[in-house]
Amino acid sequence: MSSLPPDVAVRRARPVDLAALAAFVERCSTDTLHRRFHGAGDRPVRRELARIASPTAAHRSWVAVTTDGQVHGTATLAWSRSGTTEAAFLVEDAWQRRGLGRALFAAIAVEAARADVDVVVATVQADNDRAVRFLRAVAPGVRPRYVGGAELDLSIPVAAASIAASIAAPRSGPVSGGRALVSASVEAA
Ligand SMILES: CC(C)(COP(=O)(O)OP(=O)(O)OC[C@H]1O[C@@H](n2cnc3c(N)ncnc32)[C@H](O)[C@@H]1OP(=O)(O)O)[C@@H](O)C(=O)NCCC(=O)NCCS
Repeated sequence: MSSLPPDVAVRRARPVDLAALAAFVERCSTDTLHRRFHGAGDRPVRRELARIASPTAAHRSWVAVTTDGQVHGTATLAWSRSGTTEAAFLVEDAWQRRGLGRALFAAIAVEAARADVDVVVATVQADNDRAVRFLRAVAPGVRPRYVGGAELDLSIPVAAASIAASIAAPRSGPVSGGRALVSASVEAA
């Protein structure tokens, strides 16, 4: 199992991270950005980065940062009006398979449990094997379900996931013991 490199910490995103987030996105490949932003143009991506850097009651994000302040990964948890809680992940290509995604998931899972959230939905493209394998690896118990519009939902009991995640990545914060379920929605190409 990949563990977080010693010079990387996962913490809440904050407004001061905006420039580092922009630089982080610049370093990501087109394909990786497509997986996270689904082909959105520059302006929507910039809006999303501003959103990541500015948490509200409806959404909050985490960043994986090195000691030099550079951002190499981010994860967001967002509450929609319909009651759905969504999760999204992005790790810079050169830093993938080094445990950043797992640690970011730990933060999401712990926060979801703390908020007593039942379901978190992460929307990814259905041919995004990386994301599917990632979610299956970090969230044992994920249940896949195809939904319309070429999407797939993956549902994960987050209480177990948050405990497993906190063991795998203790720097992401304590486990609150809430009852929750994490779900990932996968959109087909
Ligand atoms: C999906 C993503 C966030 C994973 O981040 P990551 O930092 O590479 O993930 P980790 O290193 O923590 O990997 C954790 C485990 O997930 C699985 N995994 C991750 N990437 C994988 C891949 N490309 N192939 C197979 N398994 C993979 C592995 O089991 C891995 O553990 P291991 O490295 O010890 O074998 C990253 O690939 C990414 O940003 N992709 C583009 C954006 C995207 O698809 N977002 C939607 C995600 S819901």
